[in-house]
Amino acid sequence: MTQPPVIGVIGVGYVGLVSAACFAELGNHVICRDIIPEKIERLRDGHVPIYEPGLSDLVVKNRQRLTFTTEIRDVTEQAGIIFVCVNTPPMYSGDADLTFVEAVIAELPDDIGDVVLAMKSTVPVGTGERMQALLDARGLSHVRYVSNPEFLKEGDAITDFMHPDRVVIGGTDDVAIDRLAQLHAPLETRIVRTDVATAEMIKAASNAFLATKISFINEIANVCEETGADVTAVAEGMGLDRRIGRHFLNAGIGFGGSCFGKDVSALKQLAGNSGYHFQILNSVMEVNELQKRRLVAKLGKHLGSLRDKKIALLGLAFKPGTDDMREAASLIVASRLLAEGAIVRAHDPVASEVARPLLRGVEIHDDVLEMLEGVDAAVLITEWPQYAELDLVHVAKIMRTPVLIDGRNLFAPELAERAGLTYEGIGRPGAVVGNPRRREQDGAASASTEA
Ligand code: NAD
Ligand code: UGA
Repeated sequence: MTQPPVIGVIGVGYVGLVSAACFAELGNHVICRDIIPEKIERLRDGHVPIYEPGLSDLVVKNRQRLTFTTEIRDVTEQAGIIFVCVNTPPMYSGDADLTFVEAVIAELPDDIGDVVLAMKSTVPVGTGERMQALLDARGLSHVRYVSNPEFLKEGDAITDFMHPDRVVIGGTDDVAIDRLAQLHAPLETRIVRTDVATAEMIKAASNAFLATKISFINEIANVCEETGADVTAVAEGMGLDRRIGRHFLNAGIGFGGSCFGKDVSALKQLAGNSGYHFQILNSVMEVNELQKRRLVAKLGKHLGSLRDKKIALLGLAFKPGTDDMREAASLIVASRLLAEGAIVRAHDPVASEVARPLLRGVEIHDDVLEMLEGVDAAVLITEWPQYAELDLVHVAKIMRTPVLIDGRNLFAPELAERAGLTYEGIGRPGAVVGNPRRREQDGAASASTEA
C-alpha cells in the first residue's frame, strides 16, 4: 500500500488548522508552520487557540499525525503538497494585501524539491500569475503552483471541510492537479479542474454572491417592514424555488466576519482597477452598513434618546459557533450606542474574552440574566441557540423597560409579546413601531374600544 503524502500547512489560523486537522483525520501526516511562536507552543501542548466546534477533539485525536513548527524547512523538507493558508487582509484602499502570501514565496528554501504549492488563502484574480512570476524569478519554476480556494465557514468548518460541495483546483500542471485530486478523493466530492484565474474567480464570485444574497434579503426585510409582510415567511417561500434555494436568506443586521466585507471590497477594487465599475457590490456593502444603523434607529423609536439608557447586547461574535470577532456587527452597534450616550452591557457564551479588549467602555457580563437585570432594552446580535432557551417571561420581569430588538429573528414574535416584551425583529409583523398594518390594527382596536 502506498503511504499517504506528507502535507504541509503554512499559516495555522482558522483555515490552516481546520485543514491540517481534517487532512490528519484522513490519515495524512501534516506539518503545520506558523510565524507566531506562542501559537505553535500552545498547539504543541494540545491547546487550540480558537473556538471552532469539534476542532480541539480532532487535533487531540490526531496528535500523532500533526506536527507544529515555526521553521519553514521542517515543512519543505518533508511535505509533497504544501497549502498556503496565511491571512490576506484588506488594505486601506480595499484591495487585498498580499504581503503575507508573497512572504511565503520569499521564504521557500532555494533547494526545495518537487512540491505542489496550493493556494488556499483567498486572493484576487491574477495572484497566481504573480506568484508564478515570483517563483520563476527565484529559480523555483519547478514548484507546482495551483489555486485551491477554501469554502468552509466558521462554526461549521469541520463539516464543511469533510463534506464540501466541491473542491476547486486551478492550474496548468496536470501532475499537480492529479496529486491534489487524489488527496481529496476520500471526500467523495466533485472536483472542479480549471485554470488558476478561473479558480480564483470562483472563490471571489462565490463570496460576493453570498453577500449579495444577504443584502438582497435585508432589503426585502426593510420593505416588509413598510408593507406588513413577514420576511421569514418570504424567505421560506422564495427558498422553495430550487433556482433560488433557502440558504443565506436570513435577514438580520447584516454580514460580519473576516471574509465577506474584505472579499466583496477586493472584488470591487479588482474590477475597478481593470476598468469595470462593479455596481451591485457598492450596494451590497452600503445595505450591509445601513442595516446596523437601522437597528440603532429601532432602539431610538422605542426609547427616544439613548443617553444614559442601559442597553444589553445578546451575543458579540460575528456569528454563532465561533469566538471570531473580526468585523463583528457588535463592534459597530456597541460603538454607535456608546456614541449616543447609552450604557452598554454585553454577553457572549464564547467570545467575551476575545471581545473584551475590542469593546472598551462596554460592561461585559458572564451571566446573561445578570446583564439583563434593569436594562432599558435588549438587542439580539448573535443568534446563539442558548439565547433561544431564555425564559422570556422572566426576562421581561427583570428588565426596566421590556424592549427586545431581535437583530437575527431568533425569537417567535408572538411568544415574546405574550411574555410581556415589546418585540421588534427585522422585517417581521411583530414589529409594533413602523409597521403600517400593525398600526392599522392597533388603530382599529383602539377605535373599537373607543366606540
Ligand atoms: P487567520 O488570520 O486566522 O490565520 C492566518 C495565519 O497565518 C495566522 O496564524 C498567521 O500568523 C499565519 N501566517 C502569516 N504569515 C505566515 C507565514 N509566512 N508563515 C506561516 N504562517 C503565517 O486567517 P484565516 O481566517 O484562517 O484565513 C486565511 C485565509 O483563508 C484568508 O485569505 C481568508 O480570506 C481565507 N479563508 C478564510 C475562511 C474563514 O472562514 N476564516 C474561509 C475560507 C477562506
Ligand atoms: C463565509 C462563507 O460562507 C464561506 O463559504 C467562505 O469560505 C468564508 O466566508 C470565507 O471565505 O472566509 P463565514 O464568514 O465563516 O463564511 O460565515 P457565514 O456563515 O458565511 O456568515 C457570514 C456572515 O453572514 C455572518 O455575520 C452571518 O451572521 C451573516 N449571515 C449569514 C446573514 O446575515 N444571513 C444569512 O442568511 C447567512
